[in-house]
Amino acid sequence: MDFKIAVLPGDGIGPEISRQGVDVMSAICEKFGHNVEYKYAICGADGIDKVGDPFPEETYETCLWADAVLFSAVGDPKFDNNPNAKVRPEQGLLAMRKKLGLFANIRPVETFQCLIHKSPLRAELVEGADFICIRELTGGMYFGEKYEDNDRAYDTNAYTRPEIERILRVAYDYALRRRKHLTVVDKANVLASSRLWRKVAQEMAPEYPDVITDFMYVDNAAMRMIQEPRFFDVMVTENTFGDILTDEGSVISGSMGLLPSASTGEKTPVFEPIHGSWPQAKGLNIANPLAQILSVAMLFEYFNLTEEGALIRKAVNASLDANVRTPEIQVEGGAKYGTDAVGAWIVDYIKNA
Ligand code: IPM
Ligand code: MN
Repeated sequence: MDFKIAVLPGDGIGPEISRQGVDVMSAICEKFGHNVEYKYAICGADGIDKVGDPFPEETYETCLWADAVLFSAVGDPKFDNNPNAKVRPEQGLLAMRKKLGLFANIRPVETFQCLIHKSPLRAELVEGADFICIRELTGGMYFGEKYEDNDRAYDTNAYTRPEIERILRVAYDYALRRRKHLTVVDKANVLASSRLWRKVAQEMAPEYPDVITDFMYVDNAAMRMIQEPRFFDVMVTENTFGDILTDEGSVISGSMGLLPSASTGEKTPVFEPIHGSWPQAKGLNIANPLAQILSVAMLFEYFNLTEEGALIRKAVNASLDANVRTPEIQVEGGAKYGTDAVGAWIVDYIKNA
């Protein structure tokens, strides 16, 4: 295949992990005989600093040119403590999601046997946990009507039937390919928007007789995820609930630095780690590149190149087994590898496989 890839390194540790993702992408393409062409584009605080826009038109054009976007992270503390900032790096991410129609955010929560001890949960609870959170990404409160003055402010959590239907279809497709269990997470006891979600899901469920559909209130889901994470197979939910639940899900595996995600929809799909830009670690060469590297595996899998994806996963597992790890997941007394060293080890593994 001929790949055109838009690379958006963004802010903080973004550029460091982005390099590792690109190197792995190139190594796989070389091994499997694919051609790959990269175009780099700016976004986030980098975009604001350079051209005053966290998702400039040129970056959007580059995304449209590409078959897939390899995204890293955006965010800079200089904007965080300034509620009056006119533009924020995060707006770039939201603009990208909206403009590319990325309504489905796929966030797998997997555990790695050799890292179970890093989980804040007891090993017997986490072992074997393996679920996917499908988060609706272009609707709800993030994009609904907003109002803000000094004394009153609101965000509107609006959803339409077609928006709900299309994300549920994505969720059912995943459930069919997995353990055929879909949990629809909502707050239908309180929220009108959630009641529409539940209604649409109840109407669609008979179309998928092989899938067990169940419904769970979001507060209960937050609890169940740490009490019994193995209960879940595929979970689907609206934008805001998905944002919160996926941060919770990410720590189950022991480090946020391990989990990739895919955002798909109407135009070019985007592959990115679920963690943020970790500005404190910028330039220190300590950030874990695995989530970014695994997002490259998701990229190949999206194009049905399963062998390519599998080799990346195998290489990642091998690096963990060989204790080639960044500091936050290294075993006691083990050598601490830098971002680039972990990436280079994985590239070598792929080349020699
Ligand atoms: C995420 C992030 C974003 C979100 C922020 C950076 C706007 O937390 O991708 O989960 O809230 O969606
Ligand atoms: Mn989030």
